[in-house]
This record gives sequence, C-alpha cells and structure tokens, in this order.
Amino acid sequence: MVICQSSICAGQPPHEEADSLNNDPEVTAEAVSQVTFYVQSLGVPARRDTEDPAVRRGEEIFSNVGCATCHRPVAESGRLEGVPSVSNQQFAPYTDLLLHDMGPALADGRPVFDASGREWRTPPLWGLGLRELIQGHNTLLHDGRARSIREAILWHGGEARPARERFRTKLSGDERDALVAFLRSL
Ligand code: HEC
Repeated sequence: MVICQSSICAGQPPHEEADSLNNDPEVTAEAVSQVTFYVQSLGVPARRDTEDPAVRRGEEIFSNVGCATCHRPVAESGRLEGVPSVSNQQFAPYTDLLLHDMGPALADGRPVFDASGREWRTPPLWGLGLRELIQGHNTLLHDGRARSIREAILWHGGEARPARERFRTKLSGDERDALVAFLRSL
C-alpha cells in the first residue's frame, strides 16, 4: 500500500529515481492513528429480512440444535478509550471467540502457540449472507474448503459433532432451509 500525504509517499521503495518525490519509508504516526481509528469504528452490516417467518424460525432452530453455544449471539464490548461509539455496546457477533476441537477432518495438524492442530476459533457469523456479494465468492472454513453454508455445517466435527448430527438427521428439509435463511440474514 502506498500512502501519500502532500509530497511524501510511504510504503514504496526508497529510490529517489523512482519519482520526483521525497521518499520516506516510514508511515507517519498520524496515518497509523487514522487507519487504526478507521478499523476500530467500522460498522457491522445490518441484518436483512428479520421479519421473514422462515428467518425467525431458523433463529430458533439455530439455538435448539446447539449452534449458539459456540456461535454466541450476544456479547458486550468493554470501554475503548477515545472511541465511545463502540464502547459498552451490546452486539451480535455469533462467536464465543474461543478455540474448539473441531475433529480430525478439519485438523491441519499444525499447532499454533497453545492451539493444537485440530482447534479453531469460532468465527463470527455476522455478514455471512453478504459474503458472496462483497468478496465475490462464498468459500467458508479456515481453508475455504466449504462452498456453501450447508457444506460448512457438515464439516463440523469434534465438539461440534452433536450439533452437526442434529442438523443432519433431526431436522426436516424445511427446517434446514429455515436455518440457512437465518444464517443468510446475518
Ligand atoms: C463446538 C463449537 C461449534 C458449534 C457447536 C458450531 N460451530 Fe460453527 N464453527 C465453529 C468453528 C471453530 C468454526 C471454524 C472451523 C474452521 O474454520 O475450520 C465454525 C465455522 C462455521 C461456519 C463457517 C464460517 C466461516 O466464516 O467460514 C459456519 C457457517 C458455521 N460454523 C455455522 C454453524 C452452525 C449453523 C452450527 C449449528 C448447526 C454450528 N456452526 C455449530 C464452532 C462451532
């Protein structure tokens, strides 16, 4: 990334010959604080179709089959100095931010610090329904192996196996559709 402020550009090779500008390889402290504030204050996409009966039914199913134990719907933020707009807010991340053993099929066998090779952090599900629109693809899970929400659920193993099995064997076709409709509304 090249950041230019007035006549100084940062983030490009420091060769005077490359252009006529006075190159400084360091990003300014002001640019760092502006980018930090931008990232801290980014909003979450608003939910859609929340009054749709299928979406509401899907939300209940999401809790009933046990998805919400890891993809927790409610969280509260702490106080972030200087950014009151995100401080002490209730929000809906659909994650517990914890690591879970997801079984051998999702394991990559590569431990990272305290996480074993089969543990993954529950990803937030907010914005899930807009992913295809924004990113141009809908590949899910840590390595992008799942090509749809249904595939992502069916890869769940380990601690998430009981929830996956309830999705697979206990839900009717309509109930599975409702669950996916709910997930697409996030
Ligand atoms: C034991 C905790 C746990 C339970 C229960 C659980 N999940 Fe997950 N979920 C995870 C973890 C961890 C991942 C990330 C796995 C990976 O990337 O390999 C994940 C990934 C996902 C993803 C892909 C998200 C992405 O951004 O790639 C979806 C969709 C999802 N879960 C939906 C569900 C649904 C629906 C249920 C209920 C049927 C459910 N999960 C139950 C922990 C859980």
